[in-house]
Amino acid sequence: MSHTFPDLPYAYDALEPYIDAKTMEVHYSKHHRTYFDKFIAAIKGSELENTQLTEIFANISQHSPAIRNNGGGYYNHVLYWNCMSPNGGGAPSGDLNEAIINTFGSFDEFQQLFTDAAINTFGSGFAWLVVNNGELKIASTSNQDNPLMDVAGVQGEPILALDVWEHAYYISYQNRRPDYIEAWWNVVDWNTVSENYAAALAQGR
Ligand SMILES: [Fe+2]
Repeated sequence: MSHTFPDLPYAYDALEPYIDAKTMEVHYSKHHRTYFDKFIAAIKGSELENTQLTEIFANISQHSPAIRNNGGGYYNHVLYWNCMSPNGGGAPSGDLNEAIINTFGSFDEFQQLFTDAAINTFGSGFAWLVVNNGELKIASTSNQDNPLMDVAGVQGEPILALDVWEHAYYISYQNRRPDYIEAWWNVVDWNTVSENYAAALAQGR
């Protein structure tokens, strides 16, 4: 069995005051867990039990909505958790910082474009920073789709994920998605995002 449900990399209250403990508990132990369990149920007994998620997503148009929605929900949340840290915030350094400046003009400009993409994601979805042919791109997807899927408008290797489903922010921020996004920048773990960037380039993405 190649698919496992990972531990949350920090305590439920670790991201307070930006993201509250109750939101993290429900989001991880209920929402994420349910996506994982339903994904496992959807692939049970098929060869997908031993197929890498990236390979499943590359052919997602050939699979059922249950696999698309729950497989996406399983993967997307793992990246979202891993891109946050109680020691996060600030701006990246090194190669990622250089790439962001070369691509978007400045970190502030990037932050504004990413924020706009997240705010303007209609309904439920995710905003992404992806590597596509060695270039950085900002993307937004609906529901539990992601840029690894063959159905995505902007494709590439995701290195940063922001969940903009209401379940990610409703308890603290109600309908105020922009307030949640502004708070979220304070917990973005740029060390992890930089590692994801280096790994994507090393894989020739
Ligand atoms: Fe979520």
